[in-house]
Amino acid sequence: MSADLIEAAIAAMAKAYAPYSNFPVGAAVRGAGGGIYAGCNVENAAYPQGCCAEASAISAMVMGGETRIVEVAVAGKGEALVTPCGGCRQRLREFAADDLVIHICGPKGLRRTATLGELLPLSFGPDNLG
Ligand code: THU
Repeated sequence: MSADLIEAAIAAMAKAYAPYSNFPVGAAVRGAGGGIYAGCNVENAAYPQGCCAEASAISAMVMGGETRIVEVAVAGKGEALVTPCGGCRQRLREFAADDLVIHICGPKGLRRTATLGELLPLSFGPDNLG
């Protein structure tokens, strides 16, 4: 069932606004309610104000009324794997736990799958505040 999510991430990559890095990224998250929410990176002339694709997808999910992520796909170009950046790993952690499945994709499809626990070990999440 990950094909639809991967397709959404690749389609979102085509919408990226990345005139500074020329590095388009697309992301799609599947909410626990079944919805698919996509996002792309949106850069800014004031560089630090740019937004990652995962952050855009998470915003779309929250706007869609969901707050639990069960699966993620990220798509980007190039030889190296486009894994979520450190900040986005933490953003994903807010809405999921170690077992979250993250599909890392290229323009042609899936390249590797990892869990959030692998990418962000010993993480700090909402439960740690208790
Ligand atoms: N980028 C993402 O959107 N997601 C990632 O996981 C890695 C990096 C974006 C940020 C910036 O617009 C461009 O890729 C180059 O770093």
